Amino acid sequence: MRTGETTSPHRRLVGRRILHYDAVESTQDTAKELLDEATAEGSVVWADRQVSGRGRHGRAWASPPGGLYLSMVLKPKDAHAQVLGLLLGIPLVKALRHFGVLAALKWPNDVVYQDRKLAGILSEGVYRRDVFYVVVGIGVNTNVDLDRLPPEVREKATTLKREVSLYVANEEFLDYFLDKAEEHYSRYLNTPVDLLMKDYRAHCLTVGRRVSIETARGRIVGLGVDVTSAGALVVLDDKGVKHEITDGSVEHLR
Ligand code: BTN
Repeated sequence: MRTGETTSPHRRLVGRRILHYDAVESTQDTAKELLDEATAEGSVVWADRQVSGRGRHGRAWASPPGGLYLSMVLKPKDAHAQVLGLLLGIPLVKALRHFGVLAALKWPNDVVYQDRKLAGILSEGVYRRDVFYVVVGIGVNTNVDLDRLPPEVREKATTLKREVSLYVANEEFLDYFLDKAEEHYSRYLNTPVDLLMKDYRAHCLTVGRRVSIETARGRIVGLGVDVTSAGALVVLDDKGVKHEITDGSVEHLR
């Protein structure tokens, strides 16, 4: 059920309208339903819990109460679904750092602290009447009880409330994050992507780390050396061969 609608005129691009629900199947699906409305662009769907939250590669995203679950409707300057998923990780990291956790990005779309996952991003491109939209979904373990997460997720996850002593309400976190997202998205609209990707690399722990990556074509082990302007991870394997990986599940090795 929708429990509120807020308009924030100081934001023009991301979060000028926030639709708040107590529960939805997935905020991604609710956000996509808005695409038929003329005012969809810049809207944010925020839910207190999701019944069928989903992550990358069709995995489930456990969404118990206490977490922050949102999807943003964007009309990008190009078919930049992957790129926007990466770039919007930067304001998310900034918001977590603002509230006291020294988080960083793990390529492509995880936000981690001390190797434990705090947040995930799912970016999906959608055509509606010949217009290309990107719906960027973000799930943050803000005030989730870890024991509400499935055991296999729990052992590799952490939450904002576990890492900081002050209570941070989801409203407060969302407000700060959306201001930062607006700033970064506006920069994206006005700046070549290859310049912005430098900022992504600076926030990404995978660059400079030894990694093991499960890809559709098998496992690659080597050193993460770069992220291209299209968002691919460049890995130099142990035989000295360079791979450009567009999708995969990454493990940071010691
Ligand atoms: C991942 O780490 O695999 C990405 C997780 C993305 C989860 C968010 S929660 C809000 C939005 N709605 C969804 O169903 N998924 C995204």
